[in-house]
Amino acid sequence: MQIITIDGPVASGKSTIARALAHSLGFYYLYSGLWYRALAYVWLREHTVAQMNDADVMHWMAQATLQGVAYSVDADGADHMRLDGVDITSELHTATVDEAASRLSTFMPVRAWINNKMHQLAHERNIVADGRDMGSDVFPHASLKIFLTADMSVRAERWRGKQRKQGNIYTLEQACERIKERDDRDAGRALAPLRIPADAHVIYNNGNDPHAVVQELRKLFTL
Ligand code: DC
Repeated sequence: MQIITIDGPVASGKSTIARALAHSLGFYYLYSGLWYRALAYVWLREHTVAQMNDADVMHWMAQATLQGVAYSVDADGADHMRLDGVDITSELHTATVDEAASRLSTFMPVRAWINNKMHQLAHERNIVADGRDMGSDVFPHASLKIFLTADMSVRAERWRGKQRKQGNIYTLEQACERIKERDDRDAGRALAPLRIPADAHVIYNNGNDPHAVVQELRKLFTL
């Protein structure tokens, strides 16, 4: 089975590229960040972000009925997250869930639970997996590892555009601040921090042509 990993910072365009690459190769697309987002969403139903601490998160993981969290990919490549059968995908990209997911991802039981899911979903499938630690930690033996990034101004505009679609208006400066904060947390945490795997290809996704990047990655895959 073949595994391609695409890691990178916030708003580097990972999901767009990974989804398109998976679709073009006929591979299964595994969006690990959507799992962190889904668990953050479940957490936020009964808690606040400020209430996250080791003891409470551990207790919650032991008690929470997370069996109802289910990921699927449609025939057209669109990924969905459901909670007890209800599609919650569109609720998972708010700025609140962004922050909660980034914070929740620093807790060991959460990472262990999600990593286990990742391995189950990857079993006997060709996959493209995107996230922060897919190549460094979760699938260290991947056939191809990509680290996708882009300039801060490009990432900030992408993030702003996504937020604008949801009716949230941020200045460029505010977007840069939000992104910087999440980058620092994702790269500075003790557990599986965002880093460039030693054997990864670093690709810049500064343009507006995902197709060109997908072609570049396809070439690397067939080398
Ligand atoms: O890829 P994303 O922005 O949708 O991910 C949301 C958050 O989940 C991100 O801020 C950090 C966390 N995450 C992680 O810690 N490890 C991953 N493999 C994927 C995401």
